[in-house]
Amino acid sequence: MARSKSSHLWLREHHSDEFVKLARVQNYRSRAVFKLKEIDQRDRVFRAGACVLDLGAAPGGWSEYALQRVGERGKIIALDVLEIVPIRGVEFIRGDFREDSVLEKLIEMLAERKVDVLLSDMAPDQSGKVEIDQPKSIHLAELALEMAHRALAPGGIFLVKVFQGAGFDQFYRDVKQGFSKVVIRKPKASRARSREVFLLGKGFKPGQGYPISTN
Ligand SMILES: C[S@@+](CC[C@H](N)C(=O)[O-])C[C@H]1O[C@@H](n2cnc3c(N)ncnc32)[C@H](O)[C@@H]1O
Repeated sequence: MARSKSSHLWLREHHSDEFVKLARVQNYRSRAVFKLKEIDQRDRVFRAGACVLDLGAAPGGWSEYALQRVGERGKIIALDVLEIVPIRGVEFIRGDFREDSVLEKLIEMLAERKVDVLLSDMAPDQSGKVEIDQPKSIHLAELALEMAHRALAPGGIFLVKVFQGAGFDQFYRDVKQGFSKVVIRKPKASRARSREVFLLGKGFKPGQGYPISTN
């Protein structure tokens, strides 16, 4: 099938992108890793020995980086609807995070262990129509926040990708209820024209704030 003009443009942009080149040179699976790295270097997301949950992990750049940062005593559990090439030291679950059975599998795998850092880089397939894509992306972010309330250890860290637009302000308020400090980050590797930003919640306060707004 012939490629559309927009996919040609995307390919050209992708090949000339400095972070794509850097990922190749540094042997990372994705350019997305540089978003996490910049946030980590600024805000200190990881510590040695931490337990990390990586939602929307494929192809695995964030998991690879997190593994380097937590070291041998750490634990990484990654989840995606897409398969990934296995990463030694990372436990992977393939499934759609919106499905209860997948959530249950994840809870089982955690086996009562609390998570120190919950990452979500989940993003729905883009239709290009904001009225369709935005609610889907907010929904994934809300599910990640629910998981944070369920699985994070006291003082834990939550980093989630969100798109600015309808529902963003309410989601931001919801995140703030459960954490001592919440900041918005737009790392350099996040394309300027994208509405994507990252919310970073530090100092999880268990039992404080209902995670999802009902109004
Ligand atoms: C931007 S990519 C993640 C890149 C990754 N952080 C990395 O560094 O390699 C977003 C991922 O979210 C996943 N995703 C989207 N919706 C999902 C869902 N409902 N359940 C699980 N994964 C999902 C996609 O399959 C995709 O792999």
